[in-house]
Amino acid sequence: MPDSVQTIFKEFVKKHAMIFTDRNALTSHFAPDTIPHRDKQINMLASILAPSLKGGRPSNVFEYGMTGTGKTLVTKYVGQELEKMSNQGTTPVKILYINCKMKKIADTEYRLVAELARMLGQDVPMTGLPTEQVYQIFFNILDSKEWIVIIILDEVDALVAKMGDDFLYNFTRINQDLKKAKVCIIGITNDLNFIDVLDPRVKSSLSEEEILFPPYNATELQDILKQRVKLGFHKGVLSEEVIPKCSALAAQEHGDARRALDLLRVAGEIAERRNDEKVTEKHVDIALEKIDYDRIVESVKALPKQTKVVLWAIINLIEKGEDDIQTGDVFAVYEEKCKECRLHPLTQRRISDLLAELDMIGIINAKIISLGRYGRTRQIKLDLSSKTKQKIKNILESTLVI
Ligand SMILES: Nc1ncnc2c1ncn2[C@@H]1O[C@H](COP(=O)(O)OP(=O)(O)OP(=O)(O)O)[C@@H](O)[C@H]1O
Ligand SMILES: [Mg+2]
Repeated sequence: MPDSVQTIFKEFVKKHAMIFTDRNALTSHFAPDTIPHRDKQINMLASILAPSLKGGRPSNVFEYGMTGTGKTLVTKYVGQELEKMSNQGTTPVKILYINCKMKKIADTEYRLVAELARMLGQDVPMTGLPTEQVYQIFFNILDSKEWIVIIILDEVDALVAKMGDDFLYNFTRINQDLKKAKVCIIGITNDLNFIDVLDPRVKSSLSEEEILFPPYNATELQDILKQRVKLGFHKGVLSEEVIPKCSALAAQEHGDARRALDLLRVAGEIAERRNDEKVTEKHVDIALEKIDYDRIVESVKALPKQTKVVLWAIINLIEKGEDDIQTGDVFAVYEEKCKECRLHPLTQRRISDLLAELDMIGIINAKIISLGRYGRTRQIKLDLSSKTKQKIKNILESTLVI
């Protein structure tokens, strides 16, 4: 290895050791041992699920709250504890966790049911069987013994956006046909309007019990960060204003612990890269800008052409001063834009799907709202700084306009 490369690596190792002890503890995949400020939700969920240990079917649960409020963390934690406990008892409890936003797993009914069957130990080909048959295979393995199967459908709104609510309806009623097994469904969402657009029958069976995850306030976020700082940072490298600042910024948005953690980690990374000995407020400011900018810009660059045109249409509407933008409005401008870039326009239905995708990536916010008997539409918002918006517009125009 040439000397210069060695020097870079050595310098990195040296610097790395200066700021972080374990960077991993500051990523959102890390599951801490204790979960501060969620006792109420943990205890509620544990009490709802506890009857499973004696062979009873727990009520279905609907969990909701803004992004980063600990829904996934708490649910997985209680699930793991329950499985541990059931291993010591007589009634087996099995937890099946599905993130409905995951591509290739939860994008069609077939794939989802096949995945659930696989999780229960029954292999199903990825494609090729009639969906009915996949259901039958799943049903057979599910009812093959006396156990309680708890199916966690995380980000369940994505599932309904992709395949309607029939699927959920069937699933919440599945117990009627089971002889040995009992199923409990936990649906999780951060889309607070979601439950209102569900078919009332699905709504009532999914939300036998409801658990709200309120946003964290700045003080609570500080506690969450302090716990991670002990695990991830060297002692004394954080200036004292860093934790309060990351917490305040994240609390201002919507009490999002993920964002607070990201800010803290990226601030640390920036300090490290600049070879600074301490992480300060200044690094948090840069982190804030960097996080938003990077995420959005990178995902816009990677969009397929048609989706870019849809986004372009939205930005145009916003620049015209529209503040109540719905699917139909986007579609009208999209059609014009297609002419400009000589693309064949897709149908309004497809545009609605593309809006859902943009929402999933987090570039726009597209809440489904019910229009009563006129069906549903999406209400579209774009919460970006003007600098980011301008950058996106430049990217779109440079790649779309011929
Ligand atoms: N009370 C807490 N204590 C420690 N860490 C937490 C707490 N709440 C959330 N976190 C951390 O914040 C991040 C986001 O939490 P989580 O994924 O559970 O949020 P969520 O409510 O599921 O969000 P989304 O709706 O976006 O899926 C994770 O890294 C998690 O470990
Ligand atoms: Mg989650």
